[in-house]
Amino acid sequence: MRISVIGCGYLGAVHAAAMAELGHEVVGIDVDERKVASLTRGEAPFFEPGLPELLTTHVASRRLRFSTDMADAAGSGIHFVAVGTPQTKGGNAADMTYVDAAITALLPHTSAGEVVVGKSTVPVGSAARLAGLVEAAGTGAVLAWNPEFLREGWAVKDSLTPDRLVFGLPPEPERAEVAESALRDAYGPVIGTGIPLVVTDFATAELVKVAANAFLATKISFINAMAEIAEATGADVTQLADAIGHDARIGRRFLGAGVGFGGGCLPKDIRAFTARAEELGRGESVAFLKEVDAINLRRRQKVVDHVVDLLGGEPNGKNVAVLGLAFKPHSDDVRDSPALDVAVRLKGLGANVRATDPEAIANSRALHPQLDYRATLTDAVADADVVVMVTEWDEYRYLDPMELGALVAARNVVDARNSYDPARWRAAGWTYRGLGRR
Ligand SMILES: NC(=O)c1ccc[n+]([C@@H]2O[C@H](COP(=O)([O-])OP(=O)(O)OC[C@H]3O[C@@H](n4cnc5c(N)ncnc54)[C@H](O)[C@@H]3O)[C@@H](O)[C@H]2O)c1
Repeated sequence: MRISVIGCGYLGAVHAAAMAELGHEVVGIDVDERKVASLTRGEAPFFEPGLPELLTTHVASRRLRFSTDMADAAGSGIHFVAVGTPQTKGGNAADMTYVDAAITALLPHTSAGEVVVGKSTVPVGSAARLAGLVEAAGTGAVLAWNPEFLREGWAVKDSLTPDRLVFGLPPEPERAEVAESALRDAYGPVIGTGIPLVVTDFATAELVKVAANAFLATKISFINAMAEIAEATGADVTQLADAIGHDARIGRRFLGAGVGFGGGCLPKDIRAFTARAEELGRGESVAFLKEVDAINLRRRQKVVDHVVDLLGGEPNGKNVAVLGLAFKPHSDDVRDSPALDVAVRLKGLGANVRATDPEAIANSRALHPQLDYRATLTDAVADADVVVMVTEWDEYRYLDPMELGALVAARNVVDARNSYDPARWRAAGWTYRGLGRR
């Protein structure tokens, strides 16, 4: 099948490569010339394990190519739209201008029987509105919505073996049939492995995505709220999470108390959901998401407070090593990253912040050139008065407290991901602070 993917960022580039891996002939289109040039060379423009291998293989086989020219989408049976939907500046709603612009530019290159498939995360009701745009173009193309659930860091695996597929189809039966048949062809090898497929309407498909993210964000903020209570009572949130997690109805996953969530999806998606619910007159239905957001942001400040406390209340001029900048390990994405936020807040208090990350320094520097970035862990921790571990890359997670102790000026550690064994660090002479831990 010939397929186009419009928008080749964290989602689109991986989706394009995965579609080529599934046997399709794929063109990826993006307005960013540098990104397209890099992808055309078979080089991933961002860090994503497994992506370079797929790109090299399928660019070489010519099954996968990239372009800045929308006309190259012509002739594809399916056009996946994977452009960004960031938070609007000065508001909580999703900025739909990129989706609207991409679909408007694409439509003149579509023909009857082709399917425009939205993959971006959008406010519920967008697909119905965009279907009107597609119909008005009069090319005979139809719209479908196919939300994406990939996780950065595991995006290749999640694209090739997703845990479910959701197809949101138009209300008209003939259009729905065209859309479903094309989507089934595109995902044929995936569906063939028995992966669950939910075929539904536009609104449900759009809501599945934001509801899933709202649930995950709520679970994280729930345990972080328990961490706050643990801090006030002397309880230990890690043991608490283990104990409640043994209940199969609750489950232990996503109950890791710490500095909270970030990235290009969860924070903006729960805010956009709240904004959309308010537009629909149902603000009270998801009002709790504002609290979920507030708990999450409070944890960042708690990490900063621990550092300041360990510095005797005077951070000015003190050396603070920040380990991790990406919003999570196995990614170089620093959008709304708790780690970068903590580093910036500490710098704002006058600390000499030395920040490091295996992959995310370049992206961090582009946003916050004022920070002192160190290429290696050893450089970052040299003469540190406090070490803050904020992104749990394995190389930070499995640090030896004895060896690290020899490099720093003072053995103070803030474990913002509750990854370390406090007893082991204390035995090595460290003053240990976790979140919600004794
Ligand atoms: N990143 C994830 O893990 C993930 C997971 C699931 C869903 N999503 C959703 O997918 C969408 C894309 O997210 P992302 O993280 O890939 O964003 P991104 O910013 O990395 O990528 C978006 C890309 O779209 C391109 N673009 C913008 N306007 C364009 C246009 N008119 N024509 C062609 N290309 C255009 C940009 O240049 C950029 O490369 C968002 O709605 C996001 O919420 C992302």
